[in-house]
Amino acid sequence: MSRALATNSHSLLRGARQPLPAALDQARLPAHVAVIMDGNGRWARRRGLPRVMGHRAGVEALKRTLRLCSDWGIGALTAYAFSTENWNRPGEEVSFLMALFERVLQRELEGLERERVRIRFLGDLAPLPGGLQQLIAEATARTQANDGIRFNVCTNYGGRAELVAAARRLAERVARGELDPASIDEAAFAEGLHTAGERDPDLLIRTSGEQRLSNFLLWQLAYAELHITEVLWPDFDEAALLAALVDYQSRQRRFGGVDPAP
Ligand code: IPE
Ligand code: IPE
Ligand code: MG
Repeated sequence: MSRALATNSHSLLRGARQPLPAALDQARLPAHVAVIMDGNGRWARRRGLPRVMGHRAGVEALKRTLRLCSDWGIGALTAYAFSTENWNRPGEEVSFLMALFERVLQRELEGLERERVRIRFLGDLAPLPGGLQQLIAEATARTQANDGIRFNVCTNYGGRAELVAAARRLAERVARGELDPASIDEAAFAEGLHTAGERDPDLLIRTSGEQRLSNFLLWQLAYAELHITEVLWPDFDEAALLAALVDYQSRQRRFGGVDPAP
């Protein structure tokens, strides 16, 4: 393997850029890819390892995916890292994940800056450990002026909580007399979401074969194309991403209309 990334887990993005595979049409790439990174626990169990080892391997899959999306010219990648429901997991697993997020972010921040990635964390960040919150603030500030791929990491994210918070903010402005309810439209509502300013995902990938949204981007995925793969997240690689993008490019997106005349 020529890619330093494959052998050096201490750097996020390095080595030569990967050219766009010939099977893909540059002009019809999704501008925004969202991914539900699922199957870490099963990946570990199949190897007789503790679940948390699957999360460690999952970080490498995310780095690979970010690198490829960036190289191939995809504008934004949004990854589901921790849901509002994931607090229901055993305390040890939750603590491991929080420590992992902190360690990885610390280690990768320089590489993210070098590659001009813009990183943001979407979700209710207040319940996260203080050290992680500080790192998130630093990473966001240090990369916000970059012009590379927009990388959104959904952490303590829940679609319903996001919608409720957006509705509450609008209601408060109405109550203060600042806002006329008749002026609330889809754009005004979307401004209150964590994704404000980001375009809706064109493609949603879910790994490990589960056919559900698990409270992910309920508003934003309204017209996304769905690609569900049996591949477990730690095994998600270039071939798996290519398969998702080829699948995406085979779709006719109608947005409620009809196919153009042949
Ligand atoms: C996804 O993998 C990672 C997180 C939700 C943090 P899982 O941990 O859900 O793996 P499975 O679904 O149990 O295999
Ligand atoms: C969704 O995966 C959340 C993340 C990938 C962070 P889960 O493994 O938590 O989803 P369910 O519980 O199977 O629906
Ligand atoms: Mg899961």
